[in-house]
Amino acid sequence: MPSYVITGVSRGIGYEFLRQYSNDPNDTVIGLVRNKTATLEKVSEDPDLKGRRNIHILEADVTDYNALQAAAAETTKITGGSLDYLIANAAFQPFFDAFDPIGTLGDQPEMVTKTLRELFEVNVIGNVHLFNLFMPLIVKGQAKKVIAISTGLADTVLTNSYELTTGSLYATSKAALNMVVAKYNAQYKKAGVLFLALSPGFVDVGQYKDVTAEQMEGLSGTMAGFAAYAPHFKGPLTPEQSVTAVKSVIANASVEKGNGGDFLSHHGNKRWL
Ligand SMILES: NC(=O)c1ccc[n+]([C@@H]2O[C@H](COP(=O)([O-])OP(=O)(O)OC[C@H]3O[C@@H](n4cnc5c(N)ncnc54)[C@H](OP(=O)(O)O)[C@@H]3O)[C@@H](O)[C@H]2O)c1
Repeated sequence: MPSYVITGVSRGIGYEFLRQYSNDPNDTVIGLVRNKTATLEKVSEDPDLKGRRNIHILEADVTDYNALQAAAAETTKITGGSLDYLIANAAFQPFFDAFDPIGTLGDQPEMVTKTLRELFEVNVIGNVHLFNLFMPLIVKGQAKKVIAISTGLADTVLTNSYELTTGSLYATSKAALNMVVAKYNAQYKKAGVLFLALSPGFVDVGQYKDVTAEQMEGLSGTMAGFAAYAPHFKGPLTPEQSVTAVKSVIANASVEKGNGGDFLSHHGNKRWL
């Protein structure tokens, strides 16, 4: 029965991964979070999840190498030494670059440096350590799939075609993550391990609930770009819709089909919305 390690299951898309993958009691789902007590409490109060004995919550900030190492050791004990799926979902998504173009952010150089450093610490360096520490388990697993949750905003063609200016620093970190995925594929494809960067689409996780009218104005160019790119686009997906679609892409993708190192959307192609 498959085993999963998923980072960032405390909320949002990660929590939905936890919910859907643990639906089959035969599967083992290990969620990594920064606050184990809070997540255990949330799970225990969730009518769907409470009492699911196949859910394991471990504490690890992805920027803490020792904590990730301990989580890999604990996973070994839980699964018996193998792992089928590793899903790098946790990410830092700053507000700082969410509304203004990169040139405008230059008015606050210290914040640009600080934000980019944190983005790389979490979204790039943390995931490199995560992949390295869990590879010994993945190579012993059956499925051998490592998924990095990326974003369509990291697609340069989309950015250039629709002049998408927002989320510049965040998108830069995810573009770097996509290259990390390609490099791991270059090394591990021959061992039968699939590395895949996967965008979950535009998903409502409450990220815009406290946004001011002025900030919304900053997003208008991006929204207009989205409308031009995808006239069918009516608004963000729910986490449930996104994870259902992403799971299907994960299930269908394989090294044999040529998906190694790929960067795909929740549709399984390069259609990001
Ligand atoms: N929502 C979208 O529209 C969208 C679009 C494209 C891509 N994505 C990607 O989808 C993934 C999930 O995002 P989301 O929308 O569900 O965001 P979210 O609701 O903000 O959740 C982010 C998760 O990452 C965790 N996290 C942040 N920093 C961490 C760290 N240093 N160590 C460990 N965990 C950390 C958070 O834990 P805490 O609770 O402890 O903060 C939380 O569980 C991310 O990779 C994001 O980039 C989302």
